[in-house]
Amino acid sequence: MGLVTLTEILKESVEKKYAVGAFDTLDDNFTEAIVAAAEEEGLPVILMVPNFFADDRDERQMSFYFNRLLDRCQRATVPVCLHLDHGNSFACCVKAIHGGCTSIMFDGSALPGEENMAITKELVKIAHSCGVSVEAEIGHVGSPEGGELEASDVDTSKYTKPEDAKRFVEETGVDALAVAVGTVHGLFKGTPKIDTERLDQIRELVKIPLVLHGGSGLPESEFRAAIEHGINKINFFTGLSLAASGAIDAKLKEFNGKIHYIELINAAHEACKAALSKRRASSPVSSPLIRSRYS
Ligand code: 13P
Repeated sequence: MGLVTLTEILKESVEKKYAVGAFDTLDDNFTEAIVAAAEEEGLPVILMVPNFFADDRDERQMSFYFNRLLDRCQRATVPVCLHLDHGNSFACCVKAIHGGCTSIMFDGSALPGEENMAITKELVKIAHSCGVSVEAEIGHVGSPEGGELEASDVDTSKYTKPEDAKRFVEETGVDALAVAVGTVHGLFKGTPKIDTERLDQIRELVKIPLVLHGGSGLPESEFRAAIEHGINKINFFTGLSLAASGAIDAKLKEFNGKIHYIELINAAHEACKAALSKRRASSPVSSPLIRSRYS
């Protein structure tokens, strides 16, 4: 199977109402846990590269990192899309295409609308001429500055406006659109509520796959609601990261700090895998490794 683009992996997702899980990888441990979990389930998966791997690295570091990622993706027995997450500049996105990503996200959601549109449009031309897909964001999915956020603290003025979403897609030619409908990156203190009415209106006007960022704070019911109302890609990161660092912390405490590094790596790997299958154990349709259908 191996490497495919975002467009390919989400090809029937709008029509058949399913979503594919997208997970950020931080190292080989995460990559292996994410791809192996998808292989065990026989599900497609989107492996996401955080922007700092393209932004802060020189050519040599980039090719070392990307070669390892590409090798694992190409050997996968399920379709895998290698996607740049939150590309924060034109250069970052171009470097990720050069590195081998089959899909990029340009996140211009904090920029004035017209500027976001203009940069996205240029990147679409470049990416498409290289056979690479493009995701962009309109409206803005925020992040708590530290700690957890209450649902009531979410800034609703940054939610995606359906008419803006329609125009943005028509003008830029993007392949997938991230929308702000009630989630934030990181964890919620209370229960987040997805604005399903707004999502329905966006789905009505926009025919391409829709993306939900901030999957970690979502309870089971909201995962379902998101897919039922038109979401086709769900991003999930904090849950994996906290599981890995929590497992390392527990090991260090257990052995009073006197433990070999490899034991910590193994503990992080197992915790990451367990986090991926946690929801799956409670219900077959609720895994963050989603490919659920609702008709
Ligand atoms: P979480 O960290 O809340 O899961 O969000 C991840 C995300 O949206 C990455 O783009």
